[in-house]
Amino acid sequence: MTEATDTRFADLELIKTGDGSYSIYLPQLNETYHSRHGALHESQYVYIDHGLADYWKQQLAKGERKKEVCVLEIGFGTGLNAWLAARWATANDVAVQYTSLEPYPIPPAMVAKLQDGLEDPALFNQLHKVAWDEWNAIRPLFSLRKVAQRLEDWTTAQQLETQYDVIFYDAFGPSKQPEVWSAGNLLTCAQLLLHGGVLTTYCAQGQFRRDLKAAGLTLVKLPGPPHKNEMTQGWKIKLLPS
Ligand SMILES: C[S@@+](CC[C@H](N)C(=O)[O-])C[C@H]1O[C@@H](n2cnc3c(N)ncnc32)[C@H](O)[C@@H]1O
Repeated sequence: MTEATDTRFADLELIKTGDGSYSIYLPQLNETYHSRHGALHESQYVYIDHGLADYWKQQLAKGERKKEVCVLEIGFGTGLNAWLAARWATANDVAVQYTSLEPYPIPPAMVAKLQDGLEDPALFNQLHKVAWDEWNAIRPLFSLRKVAQRLEDWTTAQQLETQYDVIFYDAFGPSKQPEVWSAGNLLTCAQLLLHGGVLTTYCAQGQFRRDLKAAGLTLVKLPGPPHKNEMTQGWKIKLLPS
């Protein structure tokens, strides 16, 4: 594991969000890991309902049922998206292989605080405790590979040989970390998507959407989670009615 260092990610403050779930605030970036109006609700809505579940509905509409769904997450962070994806896999009887990039992992003391009130804290802890840079079988239908690298460093030619069905683009906002939302990174993600795949994100910024469209994806605007007008999906296909 070769973590990057950046002092903007050094000070972490625990926050309780509107739906009672916990998240993190970074004072130096003046940014939160999730919506203050509800971390759990936002993750479920943007990444599970309009990521994994919408992708799976398209598969079923095409009469296809892949043996496993490969997910790439930009920003493991608190592990909340991964935790929800593991539970979705079990609930829907779909195998999920989950790769997550995280150059600035959160410390164990913060993991202990974040699990407060979660239904399955053992699963949450396991996601954080397993080794980096290798595949870990978490549950019969869920495998996790955490990679301690920045998206822009990780995508070498070798990495581009693997493609994904669903990308969770969950970086900090474009105004806070513009380098992560570069047109180059978005083009890389479009190349990393398999035909029929979808990139999903809370972000609805205009330049981001233009760059994603220029990268060849078909954009869908959806209503955002509470207190947010819109979110974005980018599909590598023409969509079928589902
Ligand atoms: C909005 S938070 C992620 C929330 C996370 N998905 C969760 O469920 O808690 C953004 C994450 O992106 C990570 N990050 C920062 N720079 C990055 C980069 N260049 N490439 C990939 N991830 C990055 C941050 O450390 C942070 O954990």
